[in-house]
Amino acid sequence: MATANLQTIEAAAEPRRQRRQPARVRKPPIALRPLHRMWRRTIDGVELVRVDLPVRRLSAALDGIVACQISDLHVDREEDLIRLQNAVRTINREAPDFVFLTGDYFSGPDTMRRYLGEFERALAGLAPKAGVFAIAGNHDHWSSFGTVSQALKDAGARMLANANERVAVRGEELVIVGIDDLWSRRAEPSRAFAGVREDDCTIVLAHNPDTALYTRHLAPGVMLSGHTHGGVVRIPFYGSLIRSVLRIGKEYYAGLNRYGDFYIYTNRGLGTFWVRIRINCRPEISRFRLTPLDEGARTAGPAKPRRRRRKPRHA
Ligand SMILES: [Fe+2]
Repeated sequence: MATANLQTIEAAAEPRRQRRQPARVRKPPIALRPLHRMWRRTIDGVELVRVDLPVRRLSAALDGIVACQISDLHVDREEDLIRLQNAVRTINREAPDFVFLTGDYFSGPDTMRRYLGEFERALAGLAPKAGVFAIAGNHDHWSSFGTVSQALKDAGARMLANANERVAVRGEELVIVGIDDLWSRRAEPSRAFAGVREDDCTIVLAHNPDTALYTRHLAPGVMLSGHTHGGVVRIPFYGSLIRSVLRIGKEYYAGLNRYGDFYIYTNRGLGTFWVRIRINCRPEISRFRLTPLDEGARTAGPAKPRRRRRKPRHA
């Protein structure tokens, strides 16, 4: 974990009128209720994680601008939709300049069809000053990239699939680069960086942190990712028990980590997939305060990519 300032605070409690209960919630037997409450807290207790995010070539005039990121929404149930609606309200209270959405909006085509309209309405409520930018994750290609990306566009997001966009903030330019998903074999970093100059400051969105292995030669300013769900089960001082998801190294499963000349931030995601469990790995809204990277403080080169020992599970 990098030395940059990283604080965690509880997401503010939602006003009572904003709490929507899932229809027909069935209570567990009395004996199991304490356990059930503990389990619910692990998947419903969203953390707003405040991070000072070092960005290479960030102009001093942009020091302190604010961006929020959510990832891996996996809107497959009513409760996931409610979590998303609450996340939108939490993000808006932070009054960010940017919001970044880093993929896996639904787990598959069935839930995508069921929740697409409400998903779009929820995201349309985001109100950053400079824009909402989105990329696709592996599940979005397995659901329907066309349908999901249209819903994101209709919600007001700019969808970047191996593309970039220049944005003016406080009279300075930033380039938002969106790289398509690696596991779906759609990632084309060079195409995503087309037209980007050497002195441009870039914020690179890539669902899978392993994308950095194929992007570092393009000198990203910073990379924001998701995909890992934080490793799902995290042991203090050890990290995740899951070993097979990333080649780049398990330290990149969550949080802020340096990779050679730039930083990668991996968001733990909002939702769950397959096993609805999180241990010591709560759902996350990232709230970044961008700050220029001190390039004098160089570390050793990037860690050697690890060999994948067995076929990864779908994150
Ligand atoms: Fe995911």
